[in-house]
Order: sequence, then C-alpha cells, then structure tokens
Amino acid sequence: MAYSESMSAERELIQVNTAPRNPRILLGACGSVAAMKFGNLCRCFFGWAEVRAVATKASLQFIDRASLPKEVILYTDEDEWSSWKKISDPVLHIELRKWADIMVIAPLSANTLGKIAGGLCDNLLTSIVRAWDFSKQLFVAPAMNSFSWTNSFTERHIVLIDDLGISLIPPVTKRLAGGEYANGAMAEVDLIYSTVRLFWESRIRQGELRVG
Ligand SMILES: Cc1cc2nc3c(=O)[nH]c(=O)nc-3n(C[C@H](O)[C@H](O)[C@H](O)COP(=O)(O)O)c2cc1C
Repeated sequence: MAYSESMSAERELIQVNTAPRNPRILLGACGSVAAMKFGNLCRCFFGWAEVRAVATKASLQFIDRASLPKEVILYTDEDEWSSWKKISDPVLHIELRKWADIMVIAPLSANTLGKIAGGLCDNLLTSIVRAWDFSKQLFVAPAMNSFSWTNSFTERHIVLIDDLGISLIPPVTKRLAGGEYANGAMAEVDLIYSTVRLFWESRIRQGELRVG
C-alpha cells in the first residue's frame, strides 16, 4: 500500500474509533392524554439514541406498552422498590440519573410540573429529577387543559424550573381533549425529537460533550 493510502486508512480508523457513542436518552411520561403518543415518541428517539423510559402511575392509564419498541425498558414506581432489597443494592433513580445523557419529560403534567418546581420527589420520575445533574440537559414538554396552562400557578412553576436550567418545549394551540381550541397541547413528537437532537449535535460539534 502506498504511503498516502496507508495514512488515509489510518485516519479513517482513528475517526471510526473516536466516533461518539449514541446518546442515552431517558424519556419520562406523566398522566396526560398526550401520553398516548409516548410509544411514538420512544420509536422516534430509538432510531437515533439508546432509550430508556420512566412512567408515572397516572401515565400508565394512557400508555399502550405494546406501542413501545421492545428494546426500550419502561420503568415504573414498582421497579424502584422491587430492585432494592438490601443496603448494597443500587437505587434505581440514581442509576437512571447516572445512565442518562439527557432526560426528556413528554408529556409533563401540571401535577409533576408543580412537584418539580417545589422539589418534591414521591415517585421514580420526580426522584430522578430531584437528583438530576444539571450540567446535563433536561427538557420538558407540558400538556394540559388550557385552564390549567393559563392558571397563575403554571407561570410561577415555569419560572422556577427555568431557574433550575430545565428547557421548556412549549405547548401549542390546537383542539384539546375537552373539545375546545386552545393552548396547552403537547408540542408535536417530531418537534420534541428534533429539538433534542439539534441540541445534542450542536454540543458535539462545539466539543462540549465528550462521549465515547
Ligand atoms: C382523562 C384524564 C386526562 C387528563 N389529562 C391531563 C393532562 O392533559 N394534563 C395534566 O396535567 N393532567 C391531566 N390529568 C390529570 C392527571 O392525570 C393527574 O393530575 C395526575 O395526578 C397526574 O399524575 P402524574 O403527574 O404523577 O403523572 C388528566 C386526568 C384524567 C382523568
């Protein structure tokens, strides 16, 4: 092999070996009708990233587990307790917080928004958020009735989570589950996916994230 050929083969090898691994995305769902789209959200991210999922008890009313890719583990509050038996066992919410590069809560309910803003952590999902390392990005896509969205609690809670460094993917105006045309619907799944992916890829380009 000529010298220049061997150099370019070596360069290629180095590029392959230093290629960043796939991002680890932790998807969370709360008890909103929009959680019916959670399977679709998981499928969207699954093609690009390693995906794990966390569901609140209320969200399970809306999630069709069969709609999730079979490789995506869906964790619930029961797993937090069943995986811990003795002092040396790992604690699930801490393990998931360490595993994830990015967390995305979509849909985020009014209830969980309030809990995060107040630092409450009474289930698996909010325990992960309460222990979150805010040098890593956490996105939320709220979904709620427009009466809840425009309620003054929401504004206060959004200010508080913004102070924590949580990124808001705002809800949109459309026909809601109650029938009215109003603001409060979860942003489209494609928009949530592209927002997170653009964020990750821009950080990789800027060299701010070193994964491998
Ligand atoms: C049919 C139905 C639909 C609901 N949709 C929403 C919703 O879109 N957004 C919301 O914030 N709460 C909604 N709720 C209320 C939440 O499910 C409730 O506040 C629950 O405690 C949220 O729990 P979580 O935050 O732990 O998921 C709905 C309740 C019902 C019964």
